[in-house]
Amino acid sequence: MTQKVVLVTGANGQLGNEIRLLANQYPQFAFTFTDIQELDLQDPEAVKTCFSSLKPAYLLNCAAYTAVDKAENEVDLCYSVNSAAVRNLALAAKQHNTIVLHVSTDYVFDGKQARPYSEGDPVCPVSIYGKSKLQGEQVLSEICPSLSVVVRTAWLYSAFGNNFVKTMIRLGREKSELKVVSDQWGSPTYAADLAQALMKIIQSAEAGHFYPGIYHYSNEGSCSWYEFAQKIHQLAGITSCKILPVSTAEYPTAAQRPSYSLLDKSKIRRDYGVSVPLWTDSLEACLSKFDNC
Ligand SMILES: NC(=O)c1ccc[n+]([C@@H]2O[C@H](COP(=O)([O-])OP(=O)(O)OC[C@H]3O[C@@H](n4cnc5c(N)ncnc54)[C@H](OP(=O)(O)O)[C@@H]3O)[C@@H](O)[C@H]2O)c1
Repeated sequence: MTQKVVLVTGANGQLGNEIRLLANQYPQFAFTFTDIQELDLQDPEAVKTCFSSLKPAYLLNCAAYTAVDKAENEVDLCYSVNSAAVRNLALAAKQHNTIVLHVSTDYVFDGKQARPYSEGDPVCPVSIYGKSKLQGEQVLSEICPSLSVVVRTAWLYSAFGNNFVKTMIRLGREKSELKVVSDQWGSPTYAADLAQALMKIIQSAEAGHFYPGIYHYSNEGSCSWYEFAQKIHQLAGITSCKILPVSTAEYPTAAQRPSYSLLDKSKIRRDYGVSVPLWTDSLEACLSKFDNC
């Protein structure tokens, strides 16, 4: 039996690497992993050629411009990767009937809501990154709505790449004191859990149950960045660094961030039977994979 092709783009990032780790559990698929060196998604001809040659049954788009603060000064590049490149993928997917699993962000919301965000809640991004990711979502819903699932996630971390968890561990070992924002609330997401959720969607599609549209996925529970940092230090056994809570006003950044971006996960649970581990359990699981912890 010929294996169906799963094309993974942005495969060298946090999420892409977690998909790589899962791939050997799915021998029914032939995975092709690409990042910008092999396939620059901003190049429409390259994307067309890749799809014509691979004819993927599934696209897992893990590629993105993710430097939230830098994006305020690199507006064109941010939109090019998060929107124009998604258009290239959507057009190719439509032509080849490829199911697209695309990842978006809680930063499409402004954070003014007081209850967890559902997929239908009004979007209102407050940063260039958030606006560019929203445009990427819209491109998919315009070009290939019946073929695409968009999974919005939040506060992603992994043993791969650079992220808040690694930064807190490094700074915690270097410094005696650290200031962390305590008035932005959300839910961390272990990229390995998100990778499992995406593969669960593919398995469901294989079984004939594919429900296109927008979904929310993060880990369960909520915390502030300050509480997240405290838990990281506790689990990593860092006791020599005092973490001080500060307000967003005291810690200005180039990009504005939503003060509250908890995601309601009931739809992905219901439609795809995806499990949602507690953020503290997943953080522990991730830290156990760090060599230096
Ligand atoms: N990180 C978070 O906290 C967070 C939160 C919410 C949602 N998300 C979303 O979750 C998804 C995965 O995020 P992540 O943290 O795994 O991202 P990541 O670690 O930054 O990985 C993204 C990958 O995409 C690659 N890439 C950039 N431009 C490309 C292009 N033109 N063509 C092909 N590949 C390109 C990057 O290469 P370079 O490194 O060389 O640029 C990188 O390897 C993204 O859609 C992101 O927007 C992330």
